[in-house]
Amino acid sequence: MTEVSRFYSGSGGLVEAISSALDAAGLDREALRPVDLAPVDEFHIRGRAATLEIIEALGLSANSHVLDLGSGLGGPARTLAEVTGCTVTGVDLTSEFCEVATALSEWTGVSDRTRFHVGDATDTSLPDGAVDAALTVHVAMNIPDKAALYAEAFRVLEPGGRFVAYDVLQGEGGDVKYPVPWANDSSTSFLATPEDMRELLHEAGFEVISEVDSSDESLVWFQQMRARIERDGPPPVTFSAFLGDAFGQMAANQVANLAERRIRTVMFACSRPL
Ligand SMILES: C[S@@+](CC[C@H](N)C(=O)[O-])C[C@H]1O[C@@H](n2cnc3c(N)ncnc32)[C@H](O)[C@@H]1O
Repeated sequence: MTEVSRFYSGSGGLVEAISSALDAAGLDREALRPVDLAPVDEFHIRGRAATLEIIEALGLSANSHVLDLGSGLGGPARTLAEVTGCTVTGVDLTSEFCEVATALSEWTGVSDRTRFHVGDATDTSLPDGAVDAALTVHVAMNIPDKAALYAEAFRVLEPGGRFVAYDVLQGEGGDVKYPVPWANDSSTSFLATPEDMRELLHEAGFEVISEVDSSDESLVWFQQMRARIERDGPPPVTFSAFLGDAFGQMAANQVANLAERRIRTVMFACSRPL
C-alpha cells in the first residue's frame, strides 16, 4: 500500500461503518439516492454543487462514457450517472475506496452505469481514446508527477473530448497549514500553482476553454458547513467516517488556508483538439 492509500484507508471496515450510520439514522436503503450520500462521498470542496458544474463543463449526455481519475468513494461518478444517464469508469489508488464506491452504487441503483477499478491515475491501462470525457477532482494534490496525470487524461480521451480538472492549488499566501483532508503533512502533498496548471495542461496537448477560481465560494462553503453542523448536528455520515476525529482540525485548517490565500480552488475545462 502506498503512503497516499494508507492516509485515505483509515482503520478499515468503511462499508460496514457507512451502512451502520445510515441504519442508525433510519434512512430507507431501498429509497437511497446518490444525493443522500453527498456529505460523505462527494469528497471535495463545494461537494455536489461543484460536480454539477463539472457536468455542465463536460457537456455530457446519456451516451457519454466518462473516466473519473481518482474516483474516491464514487460520489462524482454517481452524480454524473444519475443526472445525465452516462456511464462512468472510476480509477482510484485506494482499494477500500473502490470497494465502498461499488457498494454505494449498488445501494443507490446506479451500478449498471458506474464501475470502479483499483489503479493509478497516471497509468490506467485503458486503451487510447477509450472515453469521450474525463475528469479529475481533488486528486492531483497527491500526485508529484502531474505531467504523467494530464498526459494520461489526454491519451485516454478521444479527439474532440472534454476534460475537467478541479483541484486545490497553491496560493500566494504561503505554505499550507496541515493536516488537510488530503495529507497529514507536506510529504504527500504536491500543489501546483495556477500558472503551473496552465503550462501542464498546455504541455499535455489540451486547449484550455475556461478557468474558474471558486476560492471565495469555497470559504463560504466551509463556513456554511460549520454553521449547519453547529445548528443541526452532523449528517448521518461525513468525511469523519474515514478521516476520523482529525477531520475537525483539517476543516479548520482549510478555512484558514482559504482565508489566508494559502490555497485556491480552481476548475479548468479543456478539450483535446480534433
Ligand atoms: C480527496 S479524494 C477525492 C475523491 C473524488 N475525486 C471526489 O472528489 O470525491 C482523493 C482521491 O485521490 C486518490 N488518489 C490519490 N493519488 C492517486 C493516484 N495516483 N491514482 C489514483 N487515485 C489517486 C485517493 O485514493 C483518493 O481517493
